[in-house]
Amino acid sequence: MGLAMARQLLAEGHTVLCISRTEQPALSLQAGAALLQWRHDLADTAALTPRLESWLGKQVGTAWASATLINNAGVIARIGPLSQSDASDIAGALRVGLEAPMLLTAAFLRATEGWPARRRVLSISSGLGRRPMASQAAYCAAKAGMDHFTRCLAL
Ligand SMILES: NC(=O)c1ccc[n+]([C@@H]2O[C@H](COP(=O)([O-])OP(=O)(O)OC[C@H]3O[C@@H](n4cnc5c(N)ncnc54)[C@H](OP(=O)(O)O)[C@@H]3O)[C@@H](O)[C@H]2O)c1
Repeated sequence: MGLAMARQLLAEGHTVLCISRTEQPALSLQAGAALLQWRHDLADTAALTPRLESWLGKQVGTAWASATLINNAGVIARIGPLSQSDASDIAGALRVGLEAPMLLTAAFLRATEGWPARRRVLSISSGLGRRPMASQAAYCAAKAGMDHFTRCLAL
C-alpha cells in the first residue's frame, strides 16, 4: 500500500519522502517531483525522529502548500496465543505499529509548527483495531491504540 501511495503521490510539484528498511527500486522519479528514500527500521526511531525533524527544519515552510505525514507501516506478529508469543515479536509490533507513528507525528508537528501550509497526519489503521481477533493481540492492540491516539490528536 505504501508503494502504491508513493507512486500516486509522485506528481509534479510534490516531494515524497519514504521511510522503510529497504529502498524501493520500483519507485521512479517523475518529472517535476522530488523523491527521497530513507532506510530506517521503525522499531528503532532513536536516530529517525531527529533526522526527520532536522530535515523538516531546513525546509522553507512558506514554500509548501501542504504537508502530510502518512503512518503506513504495520507489523503482524507471529500469529498465536499471547502466552506463546515472543517478547521481541510483541515489542516489535507495538513499536512499529504504535510507538513510531506517535513519535514521528510529534516530530512532524513540532518541526512544521508555524508553517502556513495545511498540515495533516494520516494513519493507516485496520478493522482489527475495532474488532478483536484471537491470536492477534499485539496487532489489534497497536491498531486500537493508533485509533485512539488519532482521536486524541484531533482534539
Ligand atoms: N494488507 C491488508 O489486508 C491490510 C488490512 C488492514 C490494514 N492494513 C494496514 O495497512 C498498512 C499497510 O499494509 P500492507 O499490507 O501494505 O503491508 P506490507 O505489504 O507488509 O508493507 C509494509 C510496508 O511497511 C514497511 N515496514 C514494515 N516493517 C517496517 C519496519 N520495521 N521499519 C520500517 N518500515 C517497515 C515495509 O517496508 P520494508 O520491508 O522495506 O521495511 C513495507 O513498505 C499497515 O499498517 C497494515 O496494518 C493492511
